[in-house]
Amino acid sequence: MKFFIDTADVKEIRKANEYGLVDGVTTNPSLIAKTGRKFEEVIEEIASIIDGPISVEVTALDTDGMLKQARNLAKMHDNFVIKIPMTLEGMAAVRKLKTEGIKTNVTLVFSANQALIAAKAGATYVSPFVGRLDDISAPGMELIEQIVQIYDNYDFDTEVLVASIRNPIHVMEAAMMGADVATIPFNVIDMLARHPLTTSGIDKFMKDWASVPK
Ligand code: E4P
Repeated sequence: MKFFIDTADVKEIRKANEYGLVDGVTTNPSLIAKTGRKFEEVIEEIASIIDGPISVEVTALDTDGMLKQARNLAKMHDNFVIKIPMTLEGMAAVRKLKTEGIKTNVTLVFSANQALIAAKAGATYVSPFVGRLDDISAPGMELIEQIVQIYDNYDFDTEVLVASIRNPIHVMEAAMMGADVATIPFNVIDMLARHPLTTSGIDKFMKDWASVPK
């Protein structure tokens, strides 16, 4: 299972990368806006830190506009994966980009049928947003189970990238279900390694060690 970090904050990316926990990065327009920096400047810096897939999102809503932006972004760096919104116009763009050898990540996926359409269009990754489903009282992880099953049924190559992760249970369940990738915010990556018994165990060992004659 691959871990991507879901942020455009280069400090967080550098830190998580030091722990060896970053196989790739996902960004979106909101995450870019949070940095207060220029889009191209941020994504180029991310590409200089991480040698893995980096999802960068188009902002056009029509197929031609998406294709134009996607081709420009793909020219900037080999590791850029083009994030395309889950619309019919988007699926036409995904289909065309596949023929051009440009990788795509279909974003804002909230149903199994949307994921099926994305796979049929030839998406490299599909991003179901589990946290946003949970927010409206629809169990997000049930969607992952459905997509994994559908992709297995037909041997689709599209990778299931669990997005909108809010807590460590999302990550654990994604792993149990066999999702290919989890894109995780920095605060949740930090939580993954923690356990109260680990913390108290270390404290006790340190205290006992201090009483050993030196
Ligand atoms: C994924 O690629 C998205 O950028 C992200 O996971 C959305 O998460 P949010 O629902 O916390 O904004």
